[in-house]
Amino acid sequence: MAKDKPVLFTGIRPTGELHLGNYLGAIQPAATHQEQFTSYLCVVDLHAITTPYEPKKMPDLIRGITLDYLAGGIDPDKSTLFIQSHVPAHVELMWLLNTITPIGELQRMVQYKEFTKRHGDAQAGILNYPILMAADILLYKGIAVPVGDDQSQHLEMASDLAKKFNRLYGETFPIPKNTADNPPRIKALHDPSKQMAKSLGPKSYIAMTDDADTIRKKIMSAVTDTGDGNNEEMAPGVANLFTLLELSAPQETVKHMREHHQEGGLQYAELKAVLADHLIEYLKPIQERRAKLEKDPDYVVKVLTDGAERAREVADATLREVKEKMGLL
Ligand code: TYM
Repeated sequence: MAKDKPVLFTGIRPTGELHLGNYLGAIQPAATHQEQFTSYLCVVDLHAITTPYEPKKMPDLIRGITLDYLAGGIDPDKSTLFIQSHVPAHVELMWLLNTITPIGELQRMVQYKEFTKRHGDAQAGILNYPILMAADILLYKGIAVPVGDDQSQHLEMASDLAKKFNRLYGETFPIPKNTADNPPRIKALHDPSKQMAKSLGPKSYIAMTDDADTIRKKIMSAVTDTGDGNNEEMAPGVANLFTLLELSAPQETVKHMREHHQEGGLQYAELKAVLADHLIEYLKPIQERRAKLEKDPDYVVKVLTDGAERAREVADATLREVKEKMGLL
């Protein structure tokens, strides 16, 4: 694995089944950039436990996200795929960064504010969540971080912490940024005012493992035009369907459907039927790869064991450098 290439890092929480938003935000860009970067793909279990979860289900969720990365095109010979908690340096660097992170900035994070609005008080893990995320990226000196738009604020904090550390202790970290100029934000199918999310339940998303019938049903019942927007702009629900069409259909099909829509002749049922067909075809090879991998649990364990070993080597070296600069070694 080339060490001289720039580093890409991304993480996904094992909190449920992977959906198209996750795939588009993280896996697809990571898979596409595998030749260009030295890539670290992480199953961030320590982030997942900041919200309520069932310990008995966690091993399956971790295995599921690993399968999703692999089926989505991550090649373990080219990229390092591992579980966050298997590399203790993440937590140690988090503590060190903790000492230079202003509490006020943590309290301004949208995710923290939304959590406290909904649940009242929050655990320290939710407040400190972005510091662990910064540690994830900086341990590998990541500069390219494919994430969806919902993670932009956290990524900005990671960049700020990298700059602050460099200023205080000397040049150590490159400054990470998103791989996309316009990070994707796929909307919930049943409520396009929100983003597609595991926490909104299956009616909000297309899971990467949904079968053809389920995909068709979910797309056909997606909310399109709620009638309360202005007529000039495409309604958010319709725009969302076009985003998904762009992902899954050939360009000519998208162009044809867009023109048809502009002329005012496009029935939403027709758009949905075409989209469902393309999504089913698009997901088919990914699902076939996943089904094959599922039959080989030893291989999946080996990928994660090798990945953690490689990740530990790089992470431990960075941690040593950080501790030296901080006068701890
Ligand atoms: P998580 O597990 O919530 O989501 C994983 C990835 O999916 C993206 N995503 C979306 N993108 C577009 N449209 C959507 N509707 C949508 N929903 C989710 C997320 O932006 C994310 O890229 N904090 C991160 C995990 C993390 C991480 C990191 C990411 C931990 N450490 C270091 C990058 C680098 C999270 O909760 O992702």
